Amino acid sequence: MEFQAARLGASTHQVPGLDAWLTLEILRLPDRIRILILYQISSILSTEFFKRQSNMRRAKISIIGAGNVGATCAHWCAAAELGDVVLLDVPQTENMPKGKALDLMQASPIMGYDSALSGTNDYADTANSDVVVITAGIARKPGMSRDDLLSTNAKIVSSVAEQVKTTSPNAVVIVVSNPLDAMVQRAFQVLGFPSHRVIGQAGVLDTARFRTFIAMELGVSVEDVSAMLMGGHGDTMVPIASCTSVGGIPVSHLIPDARMAEIVQRTRDGGAEIVSLLKTGSAYYAPAAATAQMVEAIVRDKKRLIPVAALCNKEYGVGGYYVGVPVILGSKGVEKIIELSLNSSEQAAFQKSVDAVKSLVASMETLLKA
Ligand code: NAI
Repeated sequence: MEFQAARLGASTHQVPGLDAWLTLEILRLPDRIRILILYQISSILSTEFFKRQSNMRRAKISIIGAGNVGATCAHWCAAAELGDVVLLDVPQTENMPKGKALDLMQASPIMGYDSALSGTNDYADTANSDVVVITAGIARKPGMSRDDLLSTNAKIVSSVAEQVKTTSPNAVVIVVSNPLDAMVQRAFQVLGFPSHRVIGQAGVLDTARFRTFIAMELGVSVEDVSAMLMGGHGDTMVPIASCTSVGGIPVSHLIPDARMAEIVQRTRDGGAEIVSLLKTGSAYYAPAAATAQMVEAIVRDKKRLIPVAALCNKEYGVGGYYVGVPVILGSKGVEKIIELSLNSSEQAAFQKSVDAVKSLVASMETLLKA
């Protein structure tokens, strides 16, 4: 019996006292009572078995907005076999999401990944997703700042969040649309989900850009560069020097301060640099990879310690706004916000960044009321 319990995956505390003594006692009972007890035990075990079976389904990942970031994120998620992926876009795009999903499915026998991908214009197909990624919206063109997208994307993100609220009420939602900090605040307002299940992607990307530039500067592997950036996505993001190292060596030992300041500036302008090179849109490979890393942390409950746009109340004295902070990210979303002690210049830069986020959110709210 113990063997059967183990095979079915039931832990011993769920079938208490089924040891040799109890087994003998059961065998001594009259037939009818013995059958009744064994029936009860087997129904407990089979319920447990089916409960575990149903928990074993693949994660369902829905990506709203099947444009450059959305489709590339679908690609990374499928290739890493994070779950089955649904790509959704507006009805005006007709079968475009279906086409991209089918194309990605047809790459799977070659690349050796085993994830189901589908495309749709109908939120019913995204129902009960475990993770929803929102990349819907317009992207920057040369000369535009992220904040120029505010009015259009606030309306788009509101309408998407309205749908997700009812179709996937238990999902962890990752917002990617820009301007990021305001869009994730908007999604949180409309969704009404607990804040740990509504987060934004910016910090993983900004940190990856920073790490890339440091690795390029020193001619070392990107794998050896560790960094942490905080604050809003964009011009006011704050690199934390004490958390930036190469092979465990503080970066200040390897790169002079003046050169570091140039690298920080290039990181701040990292998105604009790509926009000016592409001319027709904004970056998508790295943003999509950053988002897929967050999806992975959630569906595999990895407890990654990474920078995420999270709702900060008392944390860092922010008072109810989404800003980039280090968090532990797992299956429940944000499991903990890590509070670092910042030095005075980092604290001042972080406060400036938070103020920029607050004024962006205030502009968004004015625009939405108009
Ligand atoms: P894109 O133009 O290639 O794709 C956007 C897609 O959203 C389009 O297919 C469009 O039809 C769709 N869409 C528009 N309204 C929609 C709605 N109501 N419902 C569903 N889908 C809708 O743009 P791209 O390059 O994919 O960028 C998407 C967003 O992500 C932009 O706002 C961009 O600024 C942002 N972004 C954010 C980054 C970050 O680090 N947070 C990095 C890169 C881009």
